[in-house]
Amino acid sequence: MSKNPQEHGQEYHYNRAKKEGYRARSAYKLIDLQNRFNIFKRSFYILDLGSAPGSWLQIAKKYAEDNIGRYKDQYYHRDHYKIMGVDTKNIAPIEGIKVIKMDLTNPQFKNEIETYFNENQIDLIISDASINKSGNKFSDQSRQVNLCLEIIKLSKYLRVRGSLVVKLFQGVDFDNFFKKMKETFVIVKSFKPRASNKKSNEIYLIGLKKK
Ligand SMILES: C[S@@+](CC[C@H](N)C(=O)[O-])C[C@H]1O[C@@H](n2cnc3c(N)ncnc32)[C@H](O)[C@@H]1O
Repeated sequence: MSKNPQEHGQEYHYNRAKKEGYRARSAYKLIDLQNRFNIFKRSFYILDLGSAPGSWLQIAKKYAEDNIGRYKDQYYHRDHYKIMGVDTKNIAPIEGIKVIKMDLTNPQFKNEIETYFNENQIDLIISDASINKSGNKFSDQSRQVNLCLEIIKLSKYLRVRGSLVVKLFQGVDFDNFFKKMKETFVIVKSFKPRASNKKSNEIYLIGLKKK
């Protein structure tokens, strides 16, 4: 039987990731986000939440390395990068990146952030973290929102004008969460990357220019 276009798209991204050396096809969601919002512009200190297996970390490293050469000017720049990833699952090491196996809602995680970034403010927080779905759309959505509310709290480590990307599931709590993001960011956008499964209700919220 011939594949429907969605299955075709999934397989396309899976094969592409394999060929290009990315650990997961979600890599292309982050690339779509970058192409649309330029979130990595002048991002040197980056925190990735829910990182396993690590394709977003691979992409973040690539952009951060490029930034060091690209932005040697009188405006905000750094001559090195710092990237940290966290997941409750194992993340295989990536050279030059700090990975932690921990629940991001564990209060101890804040100490890890403070120690690694050495009190410096972070330029960009990206989160692809998602709860284990139970199949109940309503409870899954509210558990995901609760996780995202914890993630928003980590914005206190972002520099002014820094950015946050979080993954949410569309549903009743979406509008409230959007408003919550508006309390912290000047600009808030929602975006469904082309590489995201059309059948899934996942959507990304992008907070730009932290107040
Ligand atoms: C879709 S995967 C991330 C894929 C990743 N962005 C990549 O490109 O390789 C979502 C991840 O979020 C993690 N996660 C969910 N809740 C978490 C929590 N409270 N703390 C840490 N990680 C969490 C899951 O373990 C899972 O590995």
